[in-house]
Amino acid sequence: MNLVQRPRRLRTQPTLRKMVRETRVDSSSLIYPLFVKEGKNITEEISAMPGQYRYSVDTLPYELERLSKAGVGAVMLFGIPEKKDELASGAWAENGIVQQALQTAKRQFPDLYYITDVCLCEYTSHGHCGMLCGDQVDNDRTLPVLAKTALSHVQAGADMVAPSDMMDGRVAAIRTLLDQNHYENIPILSYAVKYSSAFYGPFREAAGSAPCFGDRKSYQMDYHNKKEAVKEAALDLKEGADILMVKPALSYLDVIKTVEERFDVPVAAYSVSGEYAMIKAAAKNGWIDEEAVVCETTASVFRAGADLLLTYYAKELAQFISEGRIG
Ligand code: PBG
Repeated sequence: MNLVQRPRRLRTQPTLRKMVRETRVDSSSLIYPLFVKEGKNITEEISAMPGQYRYSVDTLPYELERLSKAGVGAVMLFGIPEKKDELASGAWAENGIVQQALQTAKRQFPDLYYITDVCLCEYTSHGHCGMLCGDQVDNDRTLPVLAKTALSHVQAGADMVAPSDMMDGRVAAIRTLLDQNHYENIPILSYAVKYSSAFYGPFREAAGSAPCFGDRKSYQMDYHNKKEAVKEAALDLKEGADILMVKPALSYLDVIKTVEERFDVPVAAYSVSGEYAMIKAAAKNGWIDEEAVVCETTASVFRAGADLLLTYYAKELAQFISEGRIG
């Protein structure tokens, strides 16, 4: 056959395949989500997320040590308070669970980078992400509470804050309050494009944050929409977001690509609890090769255009990368 172009030529050897690889995965792009719970001596496995745990402040350092040994440099902290109330007081309390965790973690592992999830659903008695007015989530009354929460995280040592509530105007509210308190160098990673997704199911079990009535469709996005993703991202950027996040990841690769193309800021993607649970469950049954699927799905998120990835597989990935099995 007289073929001038033979794409297979570049696939003949492993070294060559690696050389011409278009997407590279690096541990410095990974962020590990971590659950911290009020109490003592807690290391509780999350049933829908085998291999993921809730830690108390005293057991957290063991996990931080494992992460830093594995080569994961950044974590996203989620808090699980003992008591919840209508005002989400645990979210912004000086001795709240995330605030306590930050103080201990920063002291013991100052080289790790600490991002905090800023939301109220783990702290409200009703499980919604904001203040209620009747059975509606009141956007404008929620903003000062979110800003107060972000500020208290920063005062406790957070390096970056990540609002995930999907209230309109929250990035501006947080940026303003941080600046007023001279934290103008603390970046905001905005969950700008967060869809209302069934893939959050295991997380809500992990954090005990399922809404006790209704759903989150009046504030999180409808998954049929993509133009709306551009609208949300543009607004957050204007309000002062430094990094834009798309969430979930795997079913939203087209959205990641669009956001990456349209905006000149780093784009993060969150491979959420349900994505993790699906891979774990299938692997446990022997139906898929866990490592191969983790590497393939991870590469796909970066190929789509993500610069950063939040993933429950961060530790394993860091190991695969260091052993040259992905990268
Ligand atoms: C808080 C929050 C959620 C997740 C991240 N931040 C849950 C939700 O919106 O219901 C989901 C993360 C995951 O599923 O891994 N609002």
